[in-house]
Amino acid sequence: MRKRYLAPLVLSVLFFAACGGGEKKAENADSVSTHESPAADNSMVSPSANKPASKGETLMAESDCKTCHKEEMKVVGPALKDIAGKYPNTPENVEKLAEKVIKGGSGNWGEVAMLPHPQISKEDAKEMVSYILSIGK
Ligand code: HEC
Repeated sequence: MRKRYLAPLVLSVLFFAACGGGEKKAENADSVSTHESPAADNSMVSPSANKPASKGETLMAESDCKTCHKEEMKVVGPALKDIAGKYPNTPENVEKLAEKVIKGGSGNWGEVAMLPHPQISKEDAKEMVSYILSIGK
């Protein structure tokens, strides 16, 4: 199974990120920069270190989402801020993406599939998606 193979890799990435410690965010600078170095030092970013957690964020922390998604950078799945950039925060998008979190699937970002999460209720999935779509807005 794909997940079993990925988990140690991803967890070690998260471990290094967690030990980075630095809290550097330059969102404005980032949006005007030319992105010449995609391998830039994103590992130093520890998202949400001192923000109060929303319900959706808490639910995500309790689930497996962070194994594949980080706020600022692509891991296995797209960066949360990229998802937020792609979809406006509308009830239709929240509904559609909540459905996708529960059913899993691929195609919108590439070949790699998100695992299904049948144990997550529609309500909780919507909280998580609302949180994701609110990032950076
Ligand atoms: C096994 C790795 C993995 C896990 C665990 C995972 N995701 Fe994903 N996620 C992905 C991948 C890969 C994609 C891109 C799918 C695609 O290309 O359509 C994705 C896409 C998404 C999208 C955008 C979907 C779209 O169609 O654009 C949302 C929203 C999302 N994930 C939320 C979550 C939430 C919430 C959780 C936790 C409950 C979660 N993911 C757990 C890998 C994962």
